[in-house]
Amino acid sequence: MEKNDIKWSELGFSYIKTDKRYISYWKDGKWDDGQLVEDNKISISEGSTCLHYGQECFEGLKAYSTKDGGIQLFRPDENAKRMQKSCEKVLMPEVPVEKFIDACMQVVKANEAYVPPYGTGATFYLRPFVIGVGDNIGVRPAPEYIFGVFGMPVGPYFKGGMTPVNFVTTDVDRAAPYGTGKNKVGGNYAASLQSHLEAVKRGFADCIYLDPLTHTKIDEVGAANFFGVTKDNKFITPESTSILPSITKFSLLHVAKEYLNMEVMEGDVSINKLDKFAEAGACGTAAVITPIGGIEHNGKMHVFHSETEVGPVTKKLYETLYGIQMGDVEAPKGWIYKV
Ligand code: PLP
Ligand code: COI
Repeated sequence: MEKNDIKWSELGFSYIKTDKRYISYWKDGKWDDGQLVEDNKISISEGSTCLHYGQECFEGLKAYSTKDGGIQLFRPDENAKRMQKSCEKVLMPEVPVEKFIDACMQVVKANEAYVPPYGTGATFYLRPFVIGVGDNIGVRPAPEYIFGVFGMPVGPYFKGGMTPVNFVTTDVDRAAPYGTGKNKVGGNYAASLQSHLEAVKRGFADCIYLDPLTHTKIDEVGAANFFGVTKDNKFITPESTSILPSITKFSLLHVAKEYLNMEVMEGDVSINKLDKFAEAGACGTAAVITPIGGIEHNGKMHVFHSETEVGPVTKKLYETLYGIQMGDVEAPKGWIYKV
């Protein structure tokens, strides 16, 4: 397959219009078969619930080129299941797991010329979504729905990829203690735009949200989960009712335990006890593993390993996980779907 003329290694995390996208409509109680289309615009009713009441959700996953020229998806079944939970939360019809995976496969195949070649550092990002559409005005679930998937080649989400970035804590909550934080629904992201902008204006990559109930524990980063490696080599990541259950995080818990023989734990990460960590990072599909140089809290900067160098455990975690995603390291059973 001839690839498009794109400077793969210079890509950031920006929108690029690719050739084809998938769209499926839900009407009268069922999804249609779905199809690939060229138009990247969607025409919907002005009364659509996704426009007024945030009745929508989305996902993010990636396709990777392997050394032998193949393409593979990383744990798409987990994204499909998480999207079902988001749909359930905001009363939208679930997309069957097989339909979700098939749609992702179709979009990757139809845009193969945009899938970054092996070794370029870039990957193909897929964005599935479900939106409530159709004529409506009251606060109630929509009469019709659209499930779409589009994708594009991307580089690092945080500038520099595997170079440390700094974060700052915020007083703002992106989600309520028992609200929608664990679902991938648009409202959480709208609620994070202002605090994100303030952090960026002050020279930070993003902000760290604290647990909304007590503001004493790390919840997560705006678009990624948090993890820390303690001075005695334990992998710790927050457990909270208001964070997104990150598929990358669960994969890292497995990688740390089974591949790197580390003790692993999901639990509280007190913002006043960052001293116990030798290294820290942010993890997610877009963020991959981004080392955290330091976190500013209440005007004081806490530096972990270094603001310029990646710590040795973070480096090993990255090499193992990215190795699995690209097919260079043997994956646990069921994690890889060949396109
Ligand atoms: N937390 C938030 C708020 C996110 O938007 C994401 C991205 O999907 C993550 C964490 C990481 O989740 P995952 O590893 O499944 O991509
Ligand atoms: C992802 O990592 O897939 C995300 O959705 C994060 C962000 C771009 C919202």
